[in-house]
Amino acid sequence: MAESFFLGLDVGTSGVKAILVAPGGDVVAAATTPLRLDTPRPGWAEQDPDDWWGAGVASIREVLGARPGARVAAVGISGQMHSSVFLDASGAVIRPALLWCDGRTTAECREITERAGGEARLRDLVGNPALEGFTLPKVLWLRNHEPAAFERLARVLLAKDYVRFRLTGAVATEPSDASGTLMYDVARGRWSAELMQAVGLPLSLLPEVGGSAEPLGRVGAEAAALTGLAAGTPVVGGGADNACGAAGVGVVEPGEAVASWGTSGTVLAPMAEPRIDPGLRAHTFCHVVPDVWYLMGVILSAGGAFAWYREQLARELAGSADAAARLNEEAERVPRGADGVTFLPYLQGERTPHRDASIRGAFLGLSLAHSRAHMTRAVLEGVCFAMRDSLEILRELGLTPDRLLLTGGGARSPFVRRLQAEVYGLPVSTVDREEGPAYGAALLAAVGAGAFPDVAAAARATLVRAAPEPPDPVACREYDTLYLRFRASYPAAHPVTVAAVAPTADAAPVPAAPGGAAG
Ligand code: XUL
Repeated sequence: MAESFFLGLDVGTSGVKAILVAPGGDVVAAATTPLRLDTPRPGWAEQDPDDWWGAGVASIREVLGARPGARVAAVGISGQMHSSVFLDASGAVIRPALLWCDGRTTAECREITERAGGEARLRDLVGNPALEGFTLPKVLWLRNHEPAAFERLARVLLAKDYVRFRLTGAVATEPSDASGTLMYDVARGRWSAELMQAVGLPLSLLPEVGGSAEPLGRVGAEAAALTGLAAGTPVVGGGADNACGAAGVGVVEPGEAVASWGTSGTVLAPMAEPRIDPGLRAHTFCHVVPDVWYLMGVILSAGGAFAWYREQLARELAGSADAAARLNEEAERVPRGADGVTFLPYLQGERTPHRDASIRGAFLGLSLAHSRAHMTRAVLEGVCFAMRDSLEILRELGLTPDRLLLTGGGARSPFVRRLQAEVYGLPVSTVDREEGPAYGAALLAAVGAGAFPDVAAAARATLVRAAPEPPDPVACREYDTLYLRFRASYPAAHPVTVAAVAPTADAAPVPAAPGGAAG
C-alpha cells in the first residue's frame, strides 16, 4: 500500500503555509504563499478571505507537486485567531475580514461589557474580557457601521474555518478557535447563548463545534480539482494558530510553556483547568487537546514589528533572502540596552498587559551617536521585553515553567534565542522540526487518521527537543534592570493630544518664519 502523508495548513497573517508530513514525522515538502495585509487606517487591519483560499490552494498544490502521487490520509488546518469572515446566506464573503490586530472596535467592547452586565459577568460567561481583536466586537462593529452589510450576514467564520468551508463545504469550528470569539464559554465548552442573547445576536450565526482531531468534513470535488488533493480526503477540526504552534513543539500538558514569534508574539502555558488572570491581561482559551486550557499573553507586534522595521528602515535589504540575518548581525555588535535606545513595539496598540488599542510604537533615547544597528537591537529587545510582560503574568498566576520552548521567527536565529533567554531569565529550547502551527495541524490530522492515539503521543513520536540553552546570569541581571527601563518608558506610548487653537473672528495671518519666506 502507498505510504500515507498528513497535510498541515496554516492560514497566517503574512502567508499561508502548507507542509506534507510523512508518518514518522519528517517534513517532506513545505510551501508558503505570501499574503498582503491592508491597513486602511492606523490601527485597522484587514484581509480578503478569498486571498486566504487562493494562497491555500497555491501552497497545497506546491507541496503535492513536490511529491507526485503522495496519498494524503488527512488534512489539519490552523490559522490566525479571531479574524472575522462575514458570509451571506449563499456562502459569499460580504466584506474583507477584520483581523485579530484590528483595533477599531473599542466602542463595541464597551457596548458588549455593558450589555453583558459588567466585566465580571462577561468573565463568568466566556472566561475573557471584551478586547478589540476578538470576533464578537467585530460583528457589532458591522451592525453599527455597515448596517446594509449586516442585513446580509448569515454566518461568522474564522480564518481557518473559511478555508475548511472552501475545501469541504462544512461550516464548522473547534474549541481552540471558538475560544477566541468571545462567544464561546471556555469553561463549559459551548457557545454562550446567554451572551448572544444579551448582545442581540442569533446563535445561528455560529458554526457547529467539533473536535480538533476529529474529521469535520471531506474535500469536495471542486476543491480536489483545484488543490490536487483526492476528493473525500478527511479534514480534521485543527486549531487556533497559537494552540497548534504549541502542539507543534509538543507543549500540550500543564507544566510547560512556549514563546512564539509570528506576526504577533505570544507566551502560552497549558493548564488542567480554565484559570483566569484576575487582571484580565492574559487570555484563557481551550487547547487542541480535550480538557486542557491555556493562559496566554499576546503582544500584537512581534515579528510584525520587525518586518515593519525591516521594510521601512532597511530598504536596501528589500528582497534579500538573508535580510533578517544581516539585521541580527548588526544588532549583535551593539551592547545590551542599545546604548540607551528603547523601542516600544505598540504599532497596532497592545493587548497584554496594557489592553489599550490607542497606544502606539516609539523609539526613545535617540542621539547623534546612534546608528541603525542600535535601533535594530532596540526593536529586538523591545519585542522581548513586551513578551516578558506576558511571562510575568504567567509567573504571577503560579505558572512557572523551568524552560521555554521557542517557536516562530525568534526560534531560528541563535542570537535572538540567546536574547530571549537573557530577557526572560530562563533556559530556552527548540524542536528539531520547527514548522510552527502547520506542524501542530499535521499532528492533529495524524491523530484524526488514527496514526497516533493522541497529540501528546504524536509529538513524542515525531519531535526531538534540543538541549535547553541556559542564559548567562550576568546578562540576565543586566536585562532585569533594562526591563524596568522598558516598563518605565510606557507613558511615551500614549497619543499626545493638545487642545485645538480656537479660531477668532479676525483671524490673524500665521506669522512668517524668522528670515522671511524661503524661495
Ligand atoms: C492571539 C492572536 C494572535 C493571532 C495571530 O490571541 O490574536 O496571536 O492568533 O495569528
